[in-house]
Amino acid sequence: MYDFETKNAYFDRLSTNPKLRWLGQNTNHLPLPPEVKAAMVDAIDTDAIRGYAPPLGIEALRRGILDDLGLDGMSVMVTDGAIEGLYHACRTLVRAGDDFVTTDPGWQWPIRFAQASGARVVEIPIYDPAQSYKLRPEQLAAAMTERTRLVYLVDPNNPLGIAYTADEIQAFARICRDAGAYLIHDCTYRHFAHDHTLAARFYPERTLTTYSFSKWLGLAGLRVGAVVADGAVIEQLASAPPNNLGSNVLSQRAALAGLGVKARWFPEVQRVQRENQAAIARAVAGVEGLAMPVYPSNGNFVIVEVVEAGITPEALVAAYQQRDIMIRQGAYHSRTVGDRFVKISTTVPSEWVGELCELLPEMVDVARGLNDVGPQY
Ligand SMILES: Cc1ncc(COP(=O)(O)O)c(C=O)c1O
Repeated sequence: MYDFETKNAYFDRLSTNPKLRWLGQNTNHLPLPPEVKAAMVDAIDTDAIRGYAPPLGIEALRRGILDDLGLDGMSVMVTDGAIEGLYHACRTLVRAGDDFVTTDPGWQWPIRFAQASGARVVEIPIYDPAQSYKLRPEQLAAAMTERTRLVYLVDPNNPLGIAYTADEIQAFARICRDAGAYLIHDCTYRHFAHDHTLAARFYPERTLTTYSFSKWLGLAGLRVGAVVADGAVIEQLASAPPNNLGSNVLSQRAALAGLGVKARWFPEVQRVQRENQAAIARAVAGVEGLAMPVYPSNGNFVIVEVVEAGITPEALVAAYQQRDIMIRQGAYHSRTVGDRFVKISTTVPSEWVGELCELLPEMVDVARGLNDVGPQY
């Protein structure tokens, strides 16, 4: 069987399991605001979904995204999830022979997109307590060459949960500007951060800020996000986009309604997910050999080191899947250190986390007995 078939069947099995507790993809499973559901029903009832949306997005949504980021004067391209904007930017701005620089661990898909454009990928290692699991400006400066075309920074970092300070972001922006490189600031998890600074403030000309509604609002299945940049950059992206017929109308209406209630609705999501992080930290402290390198996390997830417990991340993932709980193996995020940790998402009902925590000692024992767990994605 082709790998894509095995992979698709893997996710189909998970998504058709009505009992599954999703703690593996940083999706948000806390109840949606009623206003968001009502906006979707309205988009169907009024036949709004029968036509195409404007090519770069509904104007009110474009404005709403800018307001939410506080980035006046920039342009917004609404995309089918943040990933479409990442794909498009990596395929449009990166050419064969360019260097593409990012961190390890980080998010692997843009690496593949840049490779498909013929780029050489430079992954800077950051999995080190001595540097607080963060990219240091000196490391970035040393990695830059005259061929560096694009720096891809995930901040807050998925999977680590670190976020950069204003000084660090300013330094990264300066390094990119000095090299004439584009900077993609992937801000998918920004809303969960304790503090967050946008690189676009320091380097508006060539910073592309990506935005997602999948995580803070919980619309992953609706596929809606955005890329925000200077008008000249968006003009380039708008000239031959993957989807010039406008993003999904239903999704955009839902996203707009979400922005409308965010100030009232989101603080409770944040409270629950931070409490969930704390519950996981307590459970991890009670199991010999497990550790949480970054806590608290600036994302809606935490990583748990499992190596010292003598188990593989894959075995722990498989053990939990037998109990209808999905967590993610580190290999999804890193080829070099992915064998050290699992990732657990926290925008879920506290009962799900309670169950995960209660099962933890038993699952570690079960994982010790699991040698061949089959492919995981
Ligand atoms: C770092 C990062 N960027 C982008 C995405 C994709 O977001 P979206 O669902 O908006 O396409 C993800 C999804 O997990 C992610 O972790």
